[in-house]
Amino acid sequence: MAGLVIANWKMHGSLELIAEFSKEWRALPRLTDVNAVLCPPAPYLASVSGALEGVALGAQNCADRIEGAFTGEVSVQMLSDLGCGYVIIGHSERRALYNETDAQVAVKAQLAIAQGLQAVVCVGETLAHRDADQQDKVVTEQLLRSLAEVPCENLVVAYEPVWAIGTGRTATPAQAEAMHGVIRECLQGHFGEAGAGIPVIYGGSVKPENAGVLFECDNIDGALVGGASLNANSFWQIASAASAGRA
Ligand code: 13P
Repeated sequence: MAGLVIANWKMHGSLELIAEFSKEWRALPRLTDVNAVLCPPAPYLASVSGALEGVALGAQNCADRIEGAFTGEVSVQMLSDLGCGYVIIGHSERRALYNETDAQVAVKAQLAIAQGLQAVVCVGETLAHRDADQQDKVVTEQLLRSLAEVPCENLVVAYEPVWAIGTGRTATPAQAEAMHGVIRECLQGHFGEAGAGIPVIYGGSVKPENAGVLFECDNIDGALVGGASLNANSFWQIASAASAGRA
């Protein structure tokens, strides 16, 4: 499968950054054999839509309802209307800071997939879990709860160890590959053979300098990139490494 590299801008960016990013992106060679996706903050989705050649549009979150009196929420249908092909669901920041539960993550993923979006379901252990060597158990349990009643079509899983997000501390390729193997086995156990085709991408301090070695790992199908995706050139380098890693 082609590599999948998703930029998660989190609550960063501005119209000025979008203009600058687009200008720099246009000057870079077009990549093949990689699916690049940009997830700006929701108010900028319309500005990014169609602005970047070869880059799909994604959102960072969606509501767990279809429509109605839910002030401040954004539905999967609205995301679709704006041209989104992807939505990140259950990022650890949403789980930790906004108390998002596995059950809500599962509902959001069901709605996103029913709307024809690719649902990027995030899982990952905390440092305390890793230090207690509980990471495999914690992540598989979280994954299975987050995938309750979720079909495997249009599903992507992102493994983001919480301790590696924004800390500059990347999981070693061996740690990431081992967990991706555990996740893949869990997906196959849950979905049968179809589980083998679900992309499993890594996130947590991915940068141009470490992307290449991560993408050489058999079970790492791409990356979910935070800080390093705010710069067109560094995001392009990571996407380019994913393209090479799949060659
Ligand atoms: P960083 O790449 O900034 O560590 O963020 C990772 C992340 O949370 C992407 O969703």
